[in-house]
Amino acid sequence: MMQSSESAREEAKTTPPASGRFDRTSIILHWFTVLLIAVQFSSAWLRQMVDHNSSFAATLLDTHRNSGVLIWTVSMTRLVWLHNYAYLPPFPEGMPRLQQTIAKANEYGLYALLLVQPITGLGRVLLRGAPFDLFIWEAPALFEPNDAIRHLLEKAHEFGANALFALIGLHAGAALFHRLILRDGVLQRMLPWNSQAVGVGEPIRGRLPVRRNKTNSRSVLAHGRRSF
Ligand code: HEM
Repeated sequence: MMQSSESAREEAKTTPPASGRFDRTSIILHWFTVLLIAVQFSSAWLRQMVDHNSSFAATLLDTHRNSGVLIWTVSMTRLVWLHNYAYLPPFPEGMPRLQQTIAKANEYGLYALLLVQPITGLGRVLLRGAPFDLFIWEAPALFEPNDAIRHLLEKAHEFGANALFALIGLHAGAALFHRLILRDGVLQRMLPWNSQAVGVGEPIRGRLPVRRNKTNSRSVLAHGRRSF
């Protein structure tokens, strides 16, 4: 029984969808995260521009808290999915090792910040020592107010937001570079719609060497599947 669920997981991880794209769940979770991050930055920035005593500012802060907690939950779900079931298409053949290492480091950094940032945010709210709304509940004051630690968390939250913004810029910039300059099908593998079938590990067209896939996809994957 254990063995069959193990082999089902291995099957899911090594069997590419017919299009050679990421699996559907990974794609949905990726774009849901993008949406939540957009909500997160716009609610924080908008709040800085409006009167902090207005009800609009309070709504923005509620939205920011709720969406931040959702980001943490979705990121954990993504990690579990990634580890157990996700299909990760290999990097295009010919992609330099250094570039692969940078891409992976960028992904690790994004996950780390997506998990830490909500914690520093929640911490700064908790250490106000006052009840606050979270989704449909009112969370009680769980801690005594602590201005010293809260100040540290505020700094960490600000730093985390800037670092996350920089990593997202690098990540999105690299995706556009693949789309517009290398034209190797990397972006299409993660788009919510299937704009073009992409061969496993093959550039669509363009500057990277194209490998025709003579063996079956499973054996290609055995060599080419990218680890997270
Ligand atoms: C990935 C998740 C998050 C991102 C990207 C994010 C981003 C930001 C940014 C850019 C700011 C403005 C700069 C600053 O003052 O630090 C901010 C402020 C803030 N964040 Fe977050 N945040 C996240 C999660 C959270 C969570 C989960 C909470 C609380 C539960 C939270 C609470 C706050 C608070 C209270 C402020 C100050 C708002 C103000 O006083 O104007 N954040 N956040």
